[in-house]
Amino acid sequence: MIKAFSVVAALALCWGSAVAQTAPAAAPAPAAAVMPGIQSQNIADVKPDASEVPGYAKQTNGERAKVQPGNNAPMWRQVNSGVAGFSSLPKSEAPEAGVLIQPFVQYPGSRVTNAGEAWRQVRNNWLIPYGGSLLLIVLAAIALFHFKVGPIKVHGEPTGRMVERFSAFERAAHWANVAAFLVLAVSGVVMAFGKFFLLPIMGTTLFGWLTYALKNAHNFAGPLFAVSLLVVIVTFMRDNLPAKGDLAWLLKGGGIFSGHEIDSGRYNAGEKVVFWGGVFVLGITVVVSGLAMDKLLPGLSYDRSTMQIAHMVHSVANLLMLVMMMGHIYLGTLGTKGAYEGMRSGYVDEIWAEQHHKLWLDDIKAGRIPAHRTPVAAPSARSGDPVQV
Ligand code: HEM
Repeated sequence: MIKAFSVVAALALCWGSAVAQTAPAAAPAPAAAVMPGIQSQNIADVKPDASEVPGYAKQTNGERAKVQPGNNAPMWRQVNSGVAGFSSLPKSEAPEAGVLIQPFVQYPGSRVTNAGEAWRQVRNNWLIPYGGSLLLIVLAAIALFHFKVGPIKVHGEPTGRMVERFSAFERAAHWANVAAFLVLAVSGVVMAFGKFFLLPIMGTTLFGWLTYALKNAHNFAGPLFAVSLLVVIVTFMRDNLPAKGDLAWLLKGGGIFSGHEIDSGRYNAGEKVVFWGGVFVLGITVVVSGLAMDKLLPGLSYDRSTMQIAHMVHSVANLLMLVMMMGHIYLGTLGTKGAYEGMRSGYVDEIWAEQHHKLWLDDIKAGRIPAHRTPVAAPSARSGDPVQV
């Protein structure tokens, strides 16, 4: 049965192709039917072995049309070659207006292809799937830590003696930076990943408006973040310089799992890693690449490859920074009892300082570093006001 069906099918195919081959000869198209100005080519004129002719690869589009009508490869190769054509736009305003398709490159993680496509491959095949997974994995790890190990509690009763941990200026610098950071983080995450978790809920119209608004918010918050980041770096740099016990602190993981915290100065080695890695190196990288995409860096040629490279650097740096900051935000809020109060009010209880930053408290008590850095206008007599040690 199957055999009989195959024979019938084969005969039908042979008959079909025979008709196709003989059809043009049997009924040539009347000349009047061809639209004026449009030249038609008979596909039967194609020479299948034309590619064996010497110089085939170097043929112009006109030469190719003679041997393989309809094959426009030479024209597209030229368009693809990145060679600038003519454009009347001024070079200063549109540096590559004459180049329709960028030349071939290979960005890390892409194939060798034209730069626009190479950038698209890096973004869609690497940054989005692996970056998104990284954020989810770190979020899950933090949640697991919180529910299995739990927050670091204060060991002992509050003494009521308060120590000034952050001056008013330090807190203002920190929270200004946090405000800009949060706008950037939320808008950045929605722009990169929103189509996976918001678009299905909101629909295209609302999601389009939201991302448009967030893109503008991102562009405004960027320069604010840049300025406040510089202030944060300068303000907090001195106490984040490496000190004697830092290596021991790192090797013992701060003593977080043994339950006995390793003594540290004003900031422990973990905080210093976040400061130098997350705030200084990654922060500056994110800012510089962001300003490049905003076309705010003088002396750069703002063509597509500059934007593509800036975008890839920006994405990698801000994913890593986000991961580090997720750890910092957790430890600064839910993860360490009493830490957030320190950054909110400027004061921590002496027992908190003793447990987390003993060497710093020792220095204050010994008068080696000043206990007051925010100017106090007049001694406060109200009950409940912080008492300085
Ligand atoms: C919602 C976001 C954030 C919260 C809740 C938060 C919370 C805190 C807290 C509670 C501290 C005090 C830690 C201590 O007493 O040792 C702190 C310190 C600090 N934070 Fe944040 N923070 C946030 C975001 C940021 C961002 C975005 C940056 C910079 C990019 C930053 C940079 C710093 C710096 C430099 C310190 C000083 C300690 C150090 O150098 O490690 N924070 N933060």
